[in-house]
Amino acid sequence: MHFDASEISSALAYKLLVSTIIPRPIAFVTSKSAAGVLNAAPYSFFNGMGSAPPVVAIGFQPTEAGGMKDTSSNILETGEFVVNIVDEALSVQMNQAAATLAPDVDEIELAGIETTASIDVAPPRITNSPMAMECKLFDKTELPGGGVIVIGEVIHFHLRDDAIAGHDPLRIDIDKLAPIARLNGPHYARITDKFSIKRPE
Ligand SMILES: Cc1cc2nc3c(=O)[nH]c(=O)nc-3n(C[C@H](O)[C@H](O)[C@H](O)COP(=O)(O)O)c2cc1C
Repeated sequence: MHFDASEISSALAYKLLVSTIIPRPIAFVTSKSAAGVLNAAPYSFFNGMGSAPPVVAIGFQPTEAGGMKDTSSNILETGEFVVNIVDEALSVQMNQAAATLAPDVDEIELAGIETTASIDVAPPRITNSPMAMECKLFDKTELPGGGVIVIGEVIHFHLRDDAIAGHDPLRIDIDKLAPIARLNGPHYARITDKFSIKRPE
């Protein structure tokens, strides 16, 4: 079946994207408004996009009313955020933080998320996240439909010690990192069924 993107609704385009670009990594983003209200929310239109400098990209949909989500609004206002990778232990709090709440509600407190002060950005990182990345706004692209794509430059990586399998060169134990990934709707995946393919010379 073929869909001409210029002839379908953005709701159908969304369904086609989120049901087929799977599994998606999850950025549990902590941010702080200019007024000082802390915020945490998950985003799976997310990935690392380059390494010199290290950058991540996050895609924000508009709210149902057509406005900006608190996270994107905070990032554009302050230029700072933290991407926290989510493991299964964090999944319940991550899901709680996805509730649509007023901008003055601190989801970090509401979901009982333990945080640690960041080194160079105002929003704290999530203490138990296997990998937290302090980011500064690098660039943004506003979409005509009200969404915004944010590119963040990672200025600090905080890797949980138990996920380190070796130093020099650094080796990361992905079974210890154990990130979960978003499928469609309420469905998630674990990385428990891996296979390897050796690249040709
Ligand atoms: C696992 C997961 C992934 C999500 N990914 C996105 C996303 O990539 N883009 C988006 O706009 N909303 C996404 N959402 C919905 C937001 O988390 C939700 O709208 C949240 O209330 C936004 O909070 P905020 O206004 O505090 O930023 C996702 C929700 C979940 C549970």
